[in-house]
Amino acid sequence: MKALILVGGFGTRLRPLTLSVPKPLVEFANKPMILHQIEALKAVGVTEVVLAINYQPEVMLNFLKEFEAKLGIMITCSQETEPLGTAGPLALARDKLIDGSGEPFFVLNSDVISEYPFKEMIEFHKAHGGEASIMVTKVDEPSKYGVVVMEESTGQVDKFVEKPKLFVGNKINAGIYLLNPSVLDRIELRPTSIEKEVFPKIAAEKKLYAMVLPGFWMDIGQPRDYITGLRLYLDSLRKKASTKLSTGPHIVGNVLVHESAKIGEGCLIGPDVAIGPGCVVEAGVRLSRCTVMRGVRIKKHACISSSIIGWHSTVGQWARVENMTILGEDVHVGDEIYSNGGVVLPHKEIKSSILKPEIVM
Ligand code: GDD
Ligand code: MG
Repeated sequence: MKALILVGGFGTRLRPLTLSVPKPLVEFANKPMILHQIEALKAVGVTEVVLAINYQPEVMLNFLKEFEAKLGIMITCSQETEPLGTAGPLALARDKLIDGSGEPFFVLNSDVISEYPFKEMIEFHKAHGGEASIMVTKVDEPSKYGVVVMEESTGQVDKFVEKPKLFVGNKINAGIYLLNPSVLDRIELRPTSIEKEVFPKIAAEKKLYAMVLPGFWMDIGQPRDYITGLRLYLDSLRKKASTKLSTGPHIVGNVLVHESAKIGEGCLIGPDVAIGPGCVVEAGVRLSRCTVMRGVRIKKHACISSSIIGWHSTVGQWARVENMTILGEDVHVGDEIYSNGGVVLPHKEIKSSILKPEIVM
């Protein structure tokens, strides 16, 4: 079986992290987002993953080469010379996706995280006999997603509306599809949207089916959702593989600490924290609801909550970093500094406090 991952887009909503690496390579729970997906695809028998990409393919491929061998899966690239949207890339990769077997293939948005119930999806697809299956999930604020109106008992989709202005329903497109090769005959090689131009037509012909995704789901393409996504992911890890989570008197709730990270005396860490490889967390530090990327140093008695600390940054002693502060790569926050929602570009030094949410260039 094959799969295509839509990895285009500049990931602007996840800046400043995406100023250093393409969005799919930003770590989530200590692993690049895209690896969560590739591993899950491999587990259900996918043998080739095509990355549909429109910039910096070398960075992605160099990185993923290592995992091709490790995971025993083929990873290739289909590069656009102009952004082709969410459907055009399928037409471009047509020859890679069709192998004569007639088997359906997976298509994934690169920024969605879940338990990836691909096995259940394959069964669902076989059972309904339609042309395309999509995963859907319920959210409170459907307007920023594709909304699906479906028949509950069969999953048959009546209507697919991308980012509706008026309320249509609360079941949304989770960005995970299983498509028959015939869907490719519906897509022209030009910039085009699968959500606006392809799904509504398949739905009108009653050949689009939706399966309600079991377990959690999140689009982690924006900082707030990334932080919420980590909470949901760690909750799920607690149920499925709790031994991966840290334990001890200094841990509260679900916390993931890379084995090479060092945690000092008297810290209090959690809930919902991920600490990456090579990090040094000095004595008396308080961390909650945050991600600390590879190589970060957090000095004594600093307090960080609801924030993301980018690679190789430092946070000074007694500093207080909170409220969706996002530090890019190699940012240095001075001692006793306060950051309230600062979004700091890479390689900056922060010498005075950031009192209200703002971008620091
Ligand atoms: N190759 C390529 N080329 N990929 C692209 C392009 C492009 O021109 N434009 C976007 N993508 C990729 C993005 O990298 C992402 O993986 C995926 O297509 C979806 O784009 P987003 O920009 O993340 O869209 P969204 O989050 O606003 O909405 C989409 O995802 C929602 C679920 O998270 C839609 O599919 C919605 O219907 C859906 O509900
Ligand atoms: Mg998205």
